[in-house]
Amino acid sequence: MGSEKVIDEKNQGQALLTTKIEGNNKKLYIESYGCSMNLNDSEIVASILSEQGYNTTHLLEEADLVLVNTCSIREKAEQTIRKRLEKYNAVKKINPTMKVGVLGCMAERLKAKFLEEEKIVDLVVGPDAYRDLPNLLAEVSEGRDAVNVILSKEETYGDVSPVRLNSNGVSAFVSITRGCDNMCTFCVVPFTRGRERSREPKSILEEIKQLVDNNYKEITLLGQNVDSYLWYGGGLKKDFKNASEIAQATAVDFAQLLDLAATEFPKTRFRFSTSNPQDMSLDVIYTMAKHENICKYIHLPVQSGSTAVLKRMNRQHTREEYIELVDNIKRILPGCSISQDIITGFCGETEEEHQETLSLIEYVKYDFGFMFAYSERPGTPAAKKMPDDVPLEVKKRRLNEIIQLQQKYSLYNTERFLGKTVEVLIEGSSKKSDKHWKGRNSENVTVVFPKGDEKVGDFVNVFVENCTSATLLGKKI
Ligand code: 5AD
Ligand code: SF4
Repeated sequence: MGSEKVIDEKNQGQALLTTKIEGNNKKLYIESYGCSMNLNDSEIVASILSEQGYNTTHLLEEADLVLVNTCSIREKAEQTIRKRLEKYNAVKKINPTMKVGVLGCMAERLKAKFLEEEKIVDLVVGPDAYRDLPNLLAEVSEGRDAVNVILSKEETYGDVSPVRLNSNGVSAFVSITRGCDNMCTFCVVPFTRGRERSREPKSILEEIKQLVDNNYKEITLLGQNVDSYLWYGGGLKKDFKNASEIAQATAVDFAQLLDLAATEFPKTRFRFSTSNPQDMSLDVIYTMAKHENICKYIHLPVQSGSTAVLKRMNRQHTREEYIELVDNIKRILPGCSISQDIITGFCGETEEEHQETLSLIEYVKYDFGFMFAYSERPGTPAAKKMPDDVPLEVKKRRLNEIIQLQQKYSLYNTERFLGKTVEVLIEGSSKKSDKHWKGRNSENVTVVFPKGDEKVGDFVNVFVENCTSATLLGKKI
């Protein structure tokens, strides 16, 4: 799916730290929930507002403007944001001139209704309307509420250079597509982020160059569905199908984009997320095999191991086709790690269908997983057409079974590195001990080891001596 995983609770509410541009005297507090795409969008928003006199702050109490970039993927994500608005309300009592804006998926879903439901909100802006922020803020400063939730067929923010917030100075995100055309029946994303569009390769490569020039070492190419990336001059993909032969001959697909980036920046590590099984081509897998600097990790959401459930979800592949893709990955890229997203208790899911999901996990032996109980989202095809009929206790029990099994395979997979040497990009101090560094290997496993005279951003070889299901422990060699 969806890059929301990328989208989700993992990035809960990071207050994004801070920019200082000389002469800017207004203070923006921006907080981002949900996926990496949202984080990257917040960086685009900070960039647009830096030209309107705003520097970011991490102190809510001193903010002139508070923006919260929201996620709608599950009901719980929305509840978290409602709670956060209560906190802003309390702060507004001591800072009454502070303005509050809601950005992102929840803004798009609820539109002007947000202003009625949450009195604290002055501004509602959907994911394709951030360029309009200066005008909307002018309205707000004149005492009017402001809303722009128009979705676009063209907007990619390709020319906006994101202000890198909350960054370790080593890894950064670069968006390559926006929106999603897949219409999985459970998913709110096509409604909140609109139609799929790809960004021009030139602007992607320029952004990467800027990052590389600023010493970034690892770049993650982002999109709801990166494998369906296709540049043929802009606009919607369906128009391309009727386009001329010349347009088709000069088009750039995801495998070609990866190849261009990995060739032009051989010292930079590349990752990408998210891959949609039906769109992942063998060309992408061969391109990964060709370049050592493309990390050997594929996030490949499956959602269910049952072909019947996949059909109800409107996923465009069967269990067997997914297995064939996994077999190809394992054949062409031995040792490549694979992770999943799985939803338990989707409409009508039987015990047998649940067992098929468990057996798929056993077959693939995923390295990581992101697992969720189905949460009905208003307006989606599933909400309109299928009853949410699996009782909550059953969803939770199945979720638990899936998590337990995944943990077994996560440990199985970290154990394969014991006694081996892995290359690690140092990202910062370990959370548990500032005497240890933390980084990741190519397969996206976190590696922790004692500090020596290395620094953040160095690539080092680490001999793995021990592991948990999530972390490798070792020493530099
Ligand atoms: N309920 C539960 N999980 C969902 N996801 C998307 N929509 C829903 C929903 N309605 C999960 C999918 C997706 C991930 C980002 O979030 O597994 O891949
Ligand atoms: Fe992912 Fe499907 Fe949602 Fe698109 S519609 S974002 S592919 S889950």
